[in-house]
Amino acid sequence: MSRTSPEDSKYPDVIIEGHDYDGIKEYDNPMPAWWLWIFYATIAWSVFYIAALGAGWIADYDTQLERGKERIAQKQAAAAELAPVIEVNEETLTDLLDDQEALSRGADVYATRCAQCHGAEGQGGIGAPFDDDDWLFADGLVSQFEIIRDGLAAEGMPAHDRMLDDQEIADVTAFINSF
Ligand code: HEC
Repeated sequence: MSRTSPEDSKYPDVIIEGHDYDGIKEYDNPMPAWWLWIFYATIAWSVFYIAALGAGWIADYDTQLERGKERIAQKQAAAAELAPVIEVNEETLTDLLDDQEALSRGADVYATRCAQCHGAEGQGGIGAPFDDDDWLFADGLVSQFEIIRDGLAAEGMPAHDRMLDDQEIADVTAFINSF
């Protein structure tokens, strides 16, 4: 490969005078045009960027953070609609005891998830009967709700929190008190 000699070059090499460090000298060659243009472009961009930030054309950090939080809130609201959050206390569960719709939903849940252990008529089997007023573990409606949701691991009563949502558990709580 042949090198362009200084004489043929577009830029005659000029040594920078008085610029000598331990015998190392420098030529005063111009920067390549492509490099300069990229450099000018970054300067132009920085001016535009600062102006655009000030004018609000480009969102600053805080604005982007706020928008992100809004999107999270929207997604959480949408998720909450899919799995309704219900209030569970003695009062709301007592209201379900004579709510025919809740009882019939509870009956469906009972037939598929509970009857095999507690008996189709609530007469008991592997699990305790529901056709009397005696409760071995539960103390009140909320306590029944919690036993159905969390199970009684030591007794062999499975947790249902992964198969049933709170509404379904509330419905079946009401239903087992109707035997
Ligand atoms: C794999 C069998 C099994 C299934 C399925 C099951 N249970 Fe149980 N459950 C038990 C056992 C065992 C106990 C403990 C009671 C006992 O020792 O008699 C129990 C206890 C309970 C208690 C407490 C009873 C008390 O006397 O305090 C409730 C309430 C209850 N189950 C409701 C349900 C409901 C509602 C379902 C359906 C969503 C269900 N169970 C599904 C086996 C089961």
